[in-house]
Amino acid sequence: MTAQRDDEAVLPGFENPPGPTGRPQRVFPPPPPLKSHGPARVIALCNQKGGVGKTTSTINLGATLAEAGRRVLAVDFDPQGALSAGLGVPTHDVPTIYDLLLGTVKNPHEAIIHTAVPNLDIIPANIDLSAAEVHLVNEVARETILARVLRKVSDQYDVILIDCQPSLGLLTVNALTAAHGVLIPLECEFFALRGVALLVETIDKVRDRLNPAIELDGILATMYDSRTLHSREVLERVVETFGDRVLETVITRTVKFPDASVAGAPITTFAPEHSAAEAYRQLARELIFRGAVA
Ligand SMILES: Nc1ncnc2c1ncn2[C@@H]1O[C@H](COP(=O)(O)OP(=O)(O)OP(=O)(O)O)[C@@H](O)[C@H]1O
Ligand SMILES: [Mg+2]
Repeated sequence: MTAQRDDEAVLPGFENPPGPTGRPQRVFPPPPPLKSHGPARVIALCNQKGGVGKTTSTINLGATLAEAGRRVLAVDFDPQGALSAGLGVPTHDVPTIYDLLLGTVKNPHEAIIHTAVPNLDIIPANIDLSAAEVHLVNEVARETILARVLRKVSDQYDVILIDCQPSLGLLTVNALTAAHGVLIPLECEFFALRGVALLVETIDKVRDRLNPAIELDGILATMYDSRTLHSREVLERVVETFGDRVLETVITRTVKFPDASVAGAPITTFAPEHSAAEAYRQLARELIFRGAVA
């Protein structure tokens, strides 16, 4: 990833106060429209810790990148199917990512569903996917199956986001092998950093053995509550540990996210004017600005 940081992104004329990450808050420029589309950059949203905001971030980053004119494919890679539910698409009696992994459906286009958000498509998942690890364990090149599936549709998209399950098993290794970049959502709570070393180690192993080009696109602080000293202290620790790899965009805690998930819509549809929608727009801009997305 080429970090093209330049100070022009700081609003001229006044000094921006430090943001939650302790750095001056930059205003990322609205991204220029794309003149052509594809091939996609594949980003895995990954953290083996449960409930840190992987699915919420996949839904809402997908929606805000789509809003910015990027063609986005979101891949539900968790047997819980929360991404599919959160985007309001059916998961039963439709081809899913499981069928593509097993090869019972050969053409990924048959499994792609257009969501209600223009430019945002999804490949759904359901509980069948929980059997995939057992079925695939004896396959030749079992770690590269997802990569081979996604290669067939890469040309039609600018970005493919993979919503990983909370584990470091074979499915997650498939996601990391298919990915150009990894985004790690971290909940701003006391045990946030537990397990991140193991995750980074896993990414390093995948880089060594399977996918030399994989990059860490960033660590995204989620569920930040500025009113608590606790949240601020955790974020300080995260920045101390990971420095520049922590994205400047921070997602605050708000009940709008669970509400939007229940409604089966991204926050940009459910509450387009809410600051939570703006935060994910800012994330989309930051990732485009950093070069993680075209
Ligand atoms: N910024 C936020 N503020 C408040 N609630 C949030 C926020 N982000 C996510 N949530 C809620 O927290 C719960 C867990 O979030 P989410 O499902 O995105 O995490 P996850 O990492 O995908 O979980 P899992 O590991 O189980 O897949 C959900 O109920 C979601 O609505
Ligand atoms: Mg999830």
